[in-house]
Amino acid sequence: MTSEKTSWERFFDAHAPVYMDNVFTKNTIREVDFLLEELALQPGSSILDVGCGTGRHSIELAKRGYAVTGLDLSAEMLAQAEQGAKVACVKVNWIRSDAAWFSLAEKYDAAICLCEGSLGLLGQTDDPMDQPLAILRNISRSLKPQARALLTVLNGAAMIRKYTNDDVRKGRFDPLQMVESSAHSPREGLPAIPVRERAFVPTELVLMCGLAGLFVISMWGGTAGNWGRRELDLDEIEIMVVARKTAELSAGADGVKVAAQS
Ligand SMILES: C[S@@+](CC[C@H](N)C(=O)[O-])C[C@H]1O[C@@H](n2cnc3c(N)ncnc32)[C@H](O)[C@@H]1O
Repeated sequence: MTSEKTSWERFFDAHAPVYMDNVFTKNTIREVDFLLEELALQPGSSILDVGCGTGRHSIELAKRGYAVTGLDLSAEMLAQAEQGAKVACVKVNWIRSDAAWFSLAEKYDAAICLCEGSLGLLGQTDDPMDQPLAILRNISRSLKPQARALLTVLNGAAMIRKYTNDDVRKGRFDPLQMVESSAHSPREGLPAIPVRERAFVPTELVLMCGLAGLFVISMWGGTAGNWGRRELDLDEIEIMVVARKTAELSAGADGVKVAAQS
């Protein structure tokens, strides 16, 4: 971890005490029911929760007997998570790290990265291709062969439909990079923090997952609070990706990491 905080780290550190007031956090139990069906896990399996935030999924999974590791950039979100685990009397392994930079010795039976838990949340200097690809590769590397990952990311179609050419001219949306630039106050009374969010289109998600050694099994509407096995609507805020680890990653001739043939 570098000592300088990214814009998202500053945002979530300040937002942490009120994060669980967000309406979209109110469906955790149903979301965990859903993701457990998709991940097809044995009882007691190990799960890595990337961008775990206040640990709402991690804690619910730990309550159901899974061995959970929750990883997040924000110390304050993790402090809330630790407190939540204490109240629920469960043990979760919390790790503070940037999802684009972590490397864990353990291999997991499944991974989740939910509600833009890092995927699509760009730091001010992050490259919109490199950063999400690094996160996907780190997730892939953390999985056992054939293990599944369930991810939700912003839907590029909805983002394109939301903005106008005037927004593009004014720098609010960059259609070349699928990046939205905005500013949000993390908590009442605090100044807005400028942030960048990246949306994805399904075809590039298949390609990016493939480069990271993940085979996409299905893609559905995955808007927080409204998960379901339904076709992706153009205005759906988030896409849900269910993928399976296909191959170990190895260094390519040019030093770029590529998925090895399985
Ligand atoms: C919208 S919250 C989602 C939290 C949780 N997954 C949920 O569904 O409630 C996004 C989380 O991603 C974390 N995050 C943002 N960028 C990250 C990064 N590069 N590495 C790790 N965590 C990151 C934030 O600190 C925040 O806790």
